Amino acid sequence: MAILVTGGAGYIGSHTCVQLLAEGHEIVVVDNLVNSKETAVKYIKGISGKDFNFYRGDLKNMDLVEEIFDKEKIDSVIHFAGYKAVGESVENPVMYYENNLITTINIINAMKKRNIRNFIFSSSATVYGNPATLPIREDAHLIAANPYGHTKLMIEQILKDLYASDHKWNITILRYFNPIGGHPTGLLADNPKGIPNNLMPYIIQVYQGKLKQVHVFGDDYPTIDGTGVRDYIHVIDLADGHAAALSKMKEPGVHIFNLGTGTGYSVLQLIKAFEKTNKCKIPYIIAPRRAGDIALCYADPSKAEIELGWKAKKTLEEMCKVVFI
Ligand code: NAD
Ligand code: UD1
Repeated sequence: MAILVTGGAGYIGSHTCVQLLAEGHEIVVVDNLVNSKETAVKYIKGISGKDFNFYRGDLKNMDLVEEIFDKEKIDSVIHFAGYKAVGESVENPVMYYENNLITTINIINAMKKRNIRNFIFSSSATVYGNPATLPIREDAHLIAANPYGHTKLMIEQILKDLYASDHKWNITILRYFNPIGGHPTGLLADNPKGIPNNLMPYIIQVYQGKLKQVHVFGDDYPTIDGTGVRDYIHVIDLADGHAAALSKMKEPGVHIFNLGTGTGYSVLQLIKAFEKTNKCKIPYIIAPRRAGDIALCYADPSKAEIELGWKAKKTLEEMCKVVFI
């Protein structure tokens, strides 16, 4: 039996595929490559030394979804596919609702039809909005501040309602904090198309000379040095979290876990750590705050440690290390 990995050519999906193959799982990958490249599939196969079927196509197309479920022996789904850029979601909300919701609904319908009920969903710390207390626990208040966040909250609700309607479903919602880093081979990384929105890919492009300097969005937050604090987590630790969630998929229910380290670093601390690790200078300027940003966001990851036996292990240095190929 195989795990269907949607969005498996993307940043987090590709690292998770490597982890799943290393643990002996069979996988099937589907991705329309809207935000990734087919070379990622080749690299996953190369790194793992294992083969799998890859479907290039859009999960909004129900015919494709049915075809995959008909042809493959699937018993679980890890659903990464979706759009993830906050700014773009504000500019083009309908595109976000359409892509993130329809892909999810199509997959769930195909699973329902075949009595497949193991589903892992990529949610985000964005569902906590501006948290009232820190570190953030899974039972914190949920609120979305933009269409991207709304899609995550809506899908979480759909999954909770689905379970309420049929208690045989085994649903895990993983709320990621800020994934950074890449595969030690340098073959898999966060390579967004266009100018990056997120801090780490932006720093890397400054390092590569593609961009002039980092714009630090605000230095007057109530934090250690005035810049925003986030819980950065190595993408390989995150991938590991999916494998742990999968191996604990025994009890029906809706299981929700934060995947973070529990430690927050400021923008300036991250830039300094990057400089030290890669022995370079990253020029930056202080710019106005970015609309919608919050001061502090870091996880209480203890639930995942207790229930999944999972804990992030990689250091900030490992997260910052850039490998060129
Ligand atoms: P990514 O863009 O690298 O990967 C998503 C993949 O889904 C891409 O390869 C894209 O081509 C594919 N895709 C999108 N729409 C599709 C469709 N309709 N049909 C088929 N494939 C489609 O993003 P990522 O960083 O790997 O994120 C994976 C998931 O995790 C997303 O759901 C994202 O919202 C969520 N998430 C990411 C972060 C982060 O910081 N990267 C944080 C929290 C949550
Ligand atoms: C952003 C999204 C969030 C999403 C997450 C992962 C916004 C408002 N939030 O989170 O919904 O779940 O990505 O995809 O977009 N920063 C700079 N300069 C930059 C870029 C960022 O100073 O060029 C700062 C930000 O102000 C923040 C920190 O760096 O303090 C991290 O930013 P980013 O990597 O974009 O992640 P989040 O804002 O946490």
